[in-house]
Amino acid sequence: MSNQTLTITDNRTGKAYTLPIEHDSIRATDLRQIKVADDDPGLCTYDPGFVNTAACKSSITYIDGDKGILEYRGYPIEQLAETCTFLEVAYLLHNGELPARQQLDDFVHQVTHHTILHENVKQFIAGFRYDAHPMGMFVSTVAALSTFYPEAKNIHDAAIRRKQFFRLVAKVPTIGAFTYRHNIGMPYAYPDNDLSYTGNFLNMMFRKTEGKYKPNPVMERALDILFILHADHEQNCSTTAMRSVGSANTDPYSSLAAAAAALYGPLHGGANEAVLKMLRSIGSKDRIPEYVQRVKAGDVRLMGFGHRVYKNYDPRARIIKRTADQVFEVTGRNPLIDIAVELERIALEDDYFIKRKLYPNVDFYSGIIYEAMGLPMDMFTVMFAIPRTAGWLTHYEEMLVDADQKIARPKQLYLGAARRNFVPMDRR
Ligand code: ACO
Repeated sequence: MSNQTLTITDNRTGKAYTLPIEHDSIRATDLRQIKVADDDPGLCTYDPGFVNTAACKSSITYIDGDKGILEYRGYPIEQLAETCTFLEVAYLLHNGELPARQQLDDFVHQVTHHTILHENVKQFIAGFRYDAHPMGMFVSTVAALSTFYPEAKNIHDAAIRRKQFFRLVAKVPTIGAFTYRHNIGMPYAYPDNDLSYTGNFLNMMFRKTEGKYKPNPVMERALDILFILHADHEQNCSTTAMRSVGSANTDPYSSLAAAAAALYGPLHGGANEAVLKMLRSIGSKDRIPEYVQRVKAGDVRLMGFGHRVYKNYDPRARIIKRTADQVFEVTGRNPLIDIAVELERIALEDDYFIKRKLYPNVDFYSGIIYEAMGLPMDMFTVMFAIPRTAGWLTHYEEMLVDADQKIARPKQLYLGAARRNFVPMDRR
């Protein structure tokens, strides 16, 4: 008999059960046979936040948090960030393999030729208040796209799904840039198909009156790297939202709006904004020790430090730190970087952080770069949502073709009132 099993003794009944172990996990439904009476629904697990529960099998992204490893489809993030464009990585995520030249050219062509939004979308965005949060506009506009492409409801048709993948990856930068232009009261800048994915995004964000916008190649490349680093991160809160909503066979636009709404939360996609606020509040290097004391006393958190999964240096933070230096050569040095570097140095030598395995995460340096690029803080989460769209859609695809998957429907432990009779109003 294989030793890939787990034997559990239920001390309530003295009965022993042997459950198969596959991929270092047991099936939660195997626990149902463990019961004290025939009409008992059986044992289940209690796991708020899914801290130790796998909800799917996935072949997309691998993370080893203890060792600080992140891989897309088996390729180390460092190698991808060093050599690829974002669209090459989007192809890899979605198709499972790196593209050959012709495959990449076709893929880029498809994305490039879906960047324009229906003119009605412009009017839709114009309906928001002048100071509407760009993520609020982003979430709503992505959801609204489902009404423009009703065929997207045919979620079991692979060709139709593929078309929506191209549409969404192509249109999210346009939506993001339009929300920014709406906030600053500038006319929308239309996509330029001669430019790269990130070059065109810079064009839609920053073009003024010039006939042809020429993106700075350093900024264009830096954005490619940042987009690659944010393209996927396995089963985080927003990806789980994408899968859960998609499991009801909801169209990809509505599902992606739900994922983006999850990302909007300050505990998820909003942390880089919090880092910037923290660095500003510290203000100068000489005030760092005082701030670190407050962190250690439990008064405040060191934002951009610590991660649920990484108990080592987040590999993305290391790459972003290097990218920051390249961007500053063009934009001039963001003074906040000196405070950030010194803060990191002090924290990494301090027992409090060493003992708790607290290292910089992806958000520690990304906000500083975005600010140097001229982006307002409100746009930071949009900058996360744009590249993550490729990851979300890849998980959506994987979920839809996985025969194991069902509509998401967790159990609860009901601890409320036992059955009782209704009390009429005059007797309460
Ligand atoms: N500053 C100070 N102490 C911290 C920090 C921090 N940033 N993060 C964790 N700790 C401490 C906790 O106080 C706790 O100490 P204790 O054992 O003495 O009580 C210990 O480290 C473990 O912390 P948990 O909260 O249990 O860790 P968890 O894995 O639940 O939290 C999280 C991870 C939410 C990311 C946390 O580290 C944090 O709040 N960091 C700051 C916010 C941040 O940067 N978020 C971005 C995450 S990356 C992303 O979402 C894209």
